[in-house]
Amino acid sequence: MKILTKISQCRKEVEAARRQGLVTGLVPTMGYLHQGHLSLVKAAGDQCQKIFLSIFVNPIQFGPGEDLQKYPRDPERDMALARENGVDYVFYPEEGQMYAKDHLTYVSVERLAEAMCGAHRPGHFRGVATVVLKLFNIIPAHKAYFGRKDYQQLVIIKKMAQDLNVNMEIIDCPTVRESNGLALSSRNKYLSPAERENASIIYRVLKDSGKKLLSGKKDPKTIKKEALEEFEDSGFIKKTEYFDIRDAATLEEVKTAGWAGDIVIAAAVNIGGTRLIDNVVVSKKK
Ligand code: PAF
Repeated sequence: MKILTKISQCRKEVEAARRQGLVTGLVPTMGYLHQGHLSLVKAAGDQCQKIFLSIFVNPIQFGPGEDLQKYPRDPERDMALARENGVDYVFYPEEGQMYAKDHLTYVSVERLAEAMCGAHRPGHFRGVATVVLKLFNIIPAHKAYFGRKDYQQLVIIKKMAQDLNVNMEIIDCPTVRESNGLALSSRNKYLSPAERENASIIYRVLKDSGKKLLSGKKDPKTIKKEALEEFEDSGFIKKTEYFDIRDAATLEEVKTAGWAGDIVIAAAVNIGGTRLIDNVVVSKKK
């Protein structure tokens, strides 16, 4: 496994692999790798002959007062995990390599970035879309892999790739969960063992809401009200940032019980000072 810190090195390696006719895959991450990231690496390994993994804690996707400084980092462990899991190249740039002092260009995916997490983290998806497009240009692989846990991020990246004619296949992979249902996230490191156990409520409520929606007996407004009450009654959810029922592709709010197609039910809650997000997708034939 080679560790690349310069953009020019990435270009050289990806071009060489492509010249040899090898299928290349990119797994963008902010490091502190867990089984969720490794499932993306595994998916890339099943479909590609050369795997590039990027590790970059992207400062422009963090808002003022967010956890940029304390975001968990362990590059040595990450490199060992990447090596053990068959990654061929790790792109591990310094901030100055990614953002020159006079950087002025940003990517905004309008409307899709305004709801859900975007409403509570202004500028977050502008930062994500910008860095992801930069990574796509730095490592122009055939395929790029993202987890469904960050559902809104996935929809935005797919739209950005479509709108800006990115010549790369965006592949989404299932959320990996702890045995109690908690979605894996680098930020789970902030949780105490008790909070980790309590956090299982998120997936449970999302799943129950999905069942209610599918049964057709309750309308989205009632389902949302019941979910918010359950979070509040738990006593350990300090704040529910949002609980939304939306069209899985357009992210438009679903308001009527007579829905069809794919629906995402997504939530962001705060447990013990840690912001956690999760979602489920339910489908009904149109
Ligand atoms: O999902 C993440 O880890 C980040 O948002 C990403 C896609 C690597 C961009 O920094």
